[in-house]
Amino acid sequence: MRFILLFIILIVQIYGDEDAYNRGEMLFFANACSSCHGPSAEGSSTYPRLANKKEEYLKKKLIDFRAGKAKSVSQQMMAQFAKKLTDKDIDDLSFFLSAHKKVHVEDVEDDILGGFGS
Ligand code: HEC
Repeated sequence: MRFILLFIILIVQIYGDEDAYNRGEMLFFANACSSCHGPSAEGSSTYPRLANKKEEYLKKKLIDFRAGKAKSVSQQMMAQFAKKLTDKDIDDLSFFLSAHKKVHVEDVEDDILGGFGS
């Protein structure tokens, strides 16, 4: 009986994480985070990479930005985007970004070629 219970808890946790990941991903695109930080959250010379950074670090940064803690023009810009995030948004975004699974160009090419029946 105890094993069945543990099994159920495990399944709920796995699906719970999956939900947070998908919701975080949706928020990342819906809030235009991707337009600065890149579609794979890879960053650029101007914008920091977010993918695979520590969840707690990302969460703290977003909470501080949301509270208006900004010491530079670029941080003020970021604060504008964090302002509208709820606690759950920040949790899910941080989870998604820290666990980010990189999209590999080869996979996308395979999908495209597959789509044309080759
Ligand atoms: C207009 C461009 C822009 C948009 C849109 C934007 N950001 Fe940023 N973001 C920045 C810049 C610039 C910084 C670096 C700020 C600094 O100087 O510390 C930053 C920093 C961050 C950091 C801290 C990274 C680190 O390593 O210190 C996080 C986390 C972050 N952004 C998340 C997000 C999320 C989530 C969204 C969408 C809700 C978002 N950003 C939208 C420009 C943007």
